[in-house]
Amino acid sequence: MAKYSIAVLPGDGIGKDVTDTAMMVLEKLGLDAEYRFGDVGWEYWCREGNPLPDRTIQLLKETDVCLFGAITSKTADEALQELSPSLAGKGLKYRSPIVQLRQLFDLYVNLRPCKAIPGNPLNYREGIDLVIFRENTEGLYAGVEFHPLPSEVRKVLEKHHLGMKRFSSEDDEDIAISLRLMTKKGCRRILKKAFEYARRFGRKRVTLVEKANVLRETGGLMIREAQKVAETHPEITFDVANVDALAMWLVKNPDQYEVLVAENLFGDIISDLAAQLVGGLGFSASGNIGDNYAIFEPTHGSAPKYAGLGKANPIAMINAVIMMLEWLGELDRSKALEKAVREVIFEGKVRTYDMGGSTSTTEMARTVAEKIA
Ligand code: IPM
Ligand code: MG
Repeated sequence: MAKYSIAVLPGDGIGKDVTDTAMMVLEKLGLDAEYRFGDVGWEYWCREGNPLPDRTIQLLKETDVCLFGAITSKTADEALQELSPSLAGKGLKYRSPIVQLRQLFDLYVNLRPCKAIPGNPLNYREGIDLVIFRENTEGLYAGVEFHPLPSEVRKVLEKHHLGMKRFSSEDDEDIAISLRLMTKKGCRRILKKAFEYARRFGRKRVTLVEKANVLRETGGLMIREAQKVAETHPEITFDVANVDALAMWLVKNPDQYEVLVAENLFGDIISDLAAQLVGGLGFSASGNIGDNYAIFEPTHGSAPKYAGLGKANPIAMINAVIMMLEWLGELDRSKALEKAVREVIFEGKVRTYDMGGSTSTTEMARTVAEKIA
């Protein structure tokens, strides 16, 4: 029996292309693993009315870890239009499979390292090395949304909050609500992980990204929890930044940030910004990590128009493989792969489409695989 059982969900578009490259480097590394491929994505939504079939959830339950490609996500209206006619009118609703998986498996940390690989022509600046801890299960992604606003909910809101008065002339059908639902436990556990990481890797500063001057209740809860966790780590400088200002400061002084921690949507937004500082989505990977399971994925989407064309940069997916190996405790292999990536980028002989070159997805991955010592 193999040492590890790894679920592989290629998904849509370039997800399939980059998953092939992950397999190439894993084969070269000689990881003792069995790979179990599963179904996820748009195709299954259109055909089965479910982008995350039950059999796939079962598959994940039977494995140690999952490698995820990319999926197409569209708005609710577009999703309904593309659904197979035989499934229409059944009240099916599209929900992003990756967001569902994060919640189903309680993968509460979304770890997004943003590190400039020396010599990458796409680096905004050399030397940037920050890590984002994005809360991954609640906040504005809690999934508690209403439209139209049910009248019972409306009555309760009106009874408990004067702020509802301003909207009293609106019809229920003309109001939509997405709740920013945050819990003490949810805030505390992401903060703890961020501080523990800082301590373990000798990082000196943790910055909480919030907007508590406006989102007083949710932001306030997060800040109070942060202060408590910060007190237990006196050697680490802790500060709070408003998300809007942080977006600006991150562009101005990216090298001053070390560990950023944020609620789900804020983390989503700043992680794309930070990704662009170190080469864009062709380089950035994420770990969705819980206490017992994890899913590693490139941060980019499925880019359907590039599917099968060899234009995707496989480094984001290869970086996801590096993170997965680290999480599995395969440190020699993760270091060997990281070194190979760094050498290939530094030498600059091969450059993918996003880097201004014409090296194909497969060719780039093969060059990395061949570098593995
Ligand atoms: C990400 C993506 C996802 C998200 C999408 C695909 C649902 O943008 O992983 O950052 O919003 O979390
Ligand atoms: Mg995102």
